[in-house]
Amino acid sequence: MDIFERIKNNRGPLGEHAKEAHGYFTFPKLEGELSNRMMFNGKERLVWSLNNYLGLGNHPDVRKADADAAAEWGMAYPMGARMMSGQTKYHEQLEQELAAFESKEAAYLLNFGYQGMVSAIDALVTRKDVIVYDAESHACILDGVRLHMGKRFVFPHNNIENLEKQLKRATKLTNETGGGILVISEGVFGMSGDQGKLKEIVALKKKYDFRLFVDDAHGFGVLGKTGAGTGEEQGVQDEIDVYFGTFAKSMASIGAFVASTADVINYLQYNMRSQIFAKSLPMPLVIGALKRLDMIRTDPSHKEKLWKIVNALQDGLKNAGFEIGKTQSCVTPVYLNGTIPEATALILDLRENYDIFCSMVVYPVVPKGIILLRLIPTAAHTMEDVVYTIDAFSKIRENLKAGKYNTDKISTTV
Ligand SMILES: Cc1ncc(COP(=O)(O)O)c(C=O)c1O
Repeated sequence: MDIFERIKNNRGPLGEHAKEAHGYFTFPKLEGELSNRMMFNGKERLVWSLNNYLGLGNHPDVRKADADAAAEWGMAYPMGARMMSGQTKYHEQLEQELAAFESKEAAYLLNFGYQGMVSAIDALVTRKDVIVYDAESHACILDGVRLHMGKRFVFPHNNIENLEKQLKRATKLTNETGGGILVISEGVFGMSGDQGKLKEIVALKKKYDFRLFVDDAHGFGVLGKTGAGTGEEQGVQDEIDVYFGTFAKSMASIGAFVASTADVINYLQYNMRSQIFAKSLPMPLVIGALKRLDMIRTDPSHKEKLWKIVNALQDGLKNAGFEIGKTQSCVTPVYLNGTIPEATALILDLRENYDIFCSMVVYPVVPKGIILLRLIPTAAHTMEDVVYTIDAFSKIRENLKAGKYNTDKISTTV
């Protein structure tokens, strides 16, 4: 069959909803300055969908650093891959500062978190090695695992008993192959907001030989005393063998990094295909990241403000009787019961009548019959935003219970 013909009829699990959803539920245009309030469909909305945790996205000092760097360097410099012609002293400086911040010997910049994770996993293992990973891992981990030519064992989310079972299986296998074991977890799981059980995972190192790789996309900059992330928060940073952080969330930019021993980072520099065969990060992103990292290190007020909002939102939702699951991070899921059409109608009501813009997650990401409204509090939000949102959520919960979002009674056309 012709590939284009097949595509005509098979749009993929997300694409099949494109006709009804495009431009509203998917690919919505949030316009205006990055903040707690942005324009959507010509109206100002209260936005809870941006991973701009520390509110740095539109901070005047950050905007100035980005603009000055763009004026001085342009977007082109340096040209070529790091290894060939794209190296600068600023890239090295940022790596040294990130490594120090994460209490690691060295770090390596990645152009994108997603591709970087895939490629780092690919570079770290050979077909003799076994990967053991959490079932609720982010797509970039799953795709990295998919590239692996050897065995992979998955453990149910944060199930340490089962992880130990998988480690036993993996150990048996690697004793035969002569390979090693790479355990991969997340610092913070982005949907449910619970932290990976890093302390318990690390404790298993006493019984089993493995290296631990942690994707801390949602922990970097916001968790731990200094903001170094989930490892610092749980007191096990030294036991994380390879640490990953992205600039796309708390730093409100683009790019990412891995940090580890100097030897492993040197190996990754020469073996990570996503970096060897791609152009180096442009200078404004590097200079901009240096500025953001400096602000994280020297001005705790952004993190303090963030956590004030996070605690108020999560406590307020709980006090109002909402189910917010097991979150141990800024990620704030609100679980409701309803069908997918009800979820759609509810989001429409929230956006159009309460001017609240948040993300919705439904089956197959969560079990059938569950509606997950995912809120991302940031330092750019206010206490009024929190109170207003909890009140609005209480109203939509009543509507949902009363069957008002039943599609027979409400139009979901936008
Ligand atoms: C857990 C996790 N890992 C990796 C990534 C990818 O990061 P980036 O946006 O820098 O590609 C994300 C972002 O969505 C994430 O949530």
